[in-house]
Amino acid sequence: MINNIKFSLKNLLEKYYLDKYNINISMVVEEPKNPSLGDISVPMFSVVKVLRKPMPEIVNEGIEVIRNCNLPILEVNSVGAFINLFVNKEELSFDIVKECITMDSEYGKSNIGIGKNVTLDYSSPNIAKSFSIGHLRSTMIGNSLKLILQKCGYNTYAINYLGDWGTQFGKMIVAYQKWGNKEDIMSDPIKKLTELYVRFHQEVEEHPELDDEAREAFRKMELNDPEYLDLWKWIREESLKESSQIYDLLNITFDSYNGEAFYNDKMDPVVEELDKKGLLVEDQGAKIVELGDDLPPALIKRSDGGSLYITRDLAAVFYRKKEYKFDKILYVVGNEQKLHFVQLKKIIEKMGYDFANEIEHVNFGLYLTNGKKASTRKGNVTKLYDVLQTAINLAYELINTKNPDLKNKEEIAKQVGIAAIVFGDLKNFRGLDVEFNLEQSVKFEGQTGPYLQYTGVRIASILRDKDFDINNCNKELFSKPHYFELVKQISQFNSTIEKAALEYAPSVIAKYLLNLAQSFNKFYSLEKINVEDEKNRNTNFVLAKAVRIVLNEGLRLLGIQYLEEM
Ligand code: ARG
Repeated sequence: MINNIKFSLKNLLEKYYLDKYNINISMVVEEPKNPSLGDISVPMFSVVKVLRKPMPEIVNEGIEVIRNCNLPILEVNSVGAFINLFVNKEELSFDIVKECITMDSEYGKSNIGIGKNVTLDYSSPNIAKSFSIGHLRSTMIGNSLKLILQKCGYNTYAINYLGDWGTQFGKMIVAYQKWGNKEDIMSDPIKKLTELYVRFHQEVEEHPELDDEAREAFRKMELNDPEYLDLWKWIREESLKESSQIYDLLNITFDSYNGEAFYNDKMDPVVEELDKKGLLVEDQGAKIVELGDDLPPALIKRSDGGSLYITRDLAAVFYRKKEYKFDKILYVVGNEQKLHFVQLKKIIEKMGYDFANEIEHVNFGLYLTNGKKASTRKGNVTKLYDVLQTAINLAYELINTKNPDLKNKEEIAKQVGIAAIVFGDLKNFRGLDVEFNLEQSVKFEGQTGPYLQYTGVRIASILRDKDFDINNCNKELFSKPHYFELVKQISQFNSTIEKAALEYAPSVIAKYLLNLAQSFNKFYSLEKINVEDEKNRNTNFVLAKAVRIVLNEGLRLLGIQYLEEM
């Protein structure tokens, strides 16, 4: 609502200068860092510059305009070139809180995305490798972005682009044929397959010819060799079982599981088009697209005719454009693949398609354990499922000491453990590397998911079995700073969500929720909520309820479950 006033003020002033002087000025309307100066502040530099009148004259004229409008403004004054104003907090606050309570979980929604389609490519683990903690970021960020974009009105299509095709399957098959056997693998598929994969990488250092064999095996897969394809199908299914366990636990869903293999028969037309457009160049038997001086060329076909990661991604872009008519195509993928997406975009651009600029690499940093990246090849991969389970166990221990009589401890511990992991990740700006500290993340205090859940639970218990009438409030309370601060934050939920959507950054919401929870806890330490006076009590309950609504909905947008008790 402060935003609404800011917006109205901006329009008011711009219209005034246009009508009176016939000039277009883009006015800045901001919230001063120091709240004692005012709730809103309007710097007048731009007006002085255009009208070439002395500053005091301009400022006084502006003040006059604002005083004569009918916005809920209490007081207008100036400091130097700034017009500062205080809004009528009581009316304004009441309107905000009422709107929040009326809209409930719909509160904060936006329509910036209405009528627009977005595909989100996330999680996308590699089949036959363990679902590593490295894929956690993609899964969590992607899932949260989907929810945030939906809240802004976008139609979303969540795609799990499984890494289920490529030379690594050639490697797997060669390793299986040389050192594996089915029964052994069946006993613990992913572990055994990972072992085979690790062994391949050890042996290839001594026997480089293994790489040629692997390429040959993959080539056979591409040519639909039934024996190899059966083996591949089986590996794919077993791997998916493992991933699904994690998706179930985290409550993650997808609209499509079309992975790389899906595009095996969809690459030829794209390669032909590249050729027709004169973009395909022969290079030592292979086919490449040159991308100028600043970028390495993209390898599209190997000399043996085999396709590559980028070839399949190219086919996928065209397929998705046709199928989903996207306005944006998002790839939630680590920083390591930056070049890949720059190349992908460049190729589409060179093919003459405007939608190249709809391609967005939503990049993120590495997941570090003790400062090092986890890697499947070296065999030191941390299984995401194990990490989650550890978090859940830690949460259980905490709950058990804090609230031993709680019913449903297992289920609650599960949600708290998940909140610890998810929030521990999403509070960081995605582009950065994250050093993850499990113990820290599970704590009920500090910048953690459980802290937010705990704050929500605290409010839930305050409100339990209480009746209150929103239309019987003491609006005067809202002018107290700790009341008004909370209302102000509640009013910023919508713009926070929009910012997160436009920057593809769930961390924007995560940080906002931390501030909100902090403000509420401060409020709670200053104010008794269940007071004698009926009007005052109603006001307190109404405000607490609004905070709870925003907290719950904010957590949901991050992929975290709110709780009634913990
Ligand atoms: N499977 C890939 C990996 O784990 C990520 C795929 C990302 N999506 C894409 N369209 N390239 O490295």
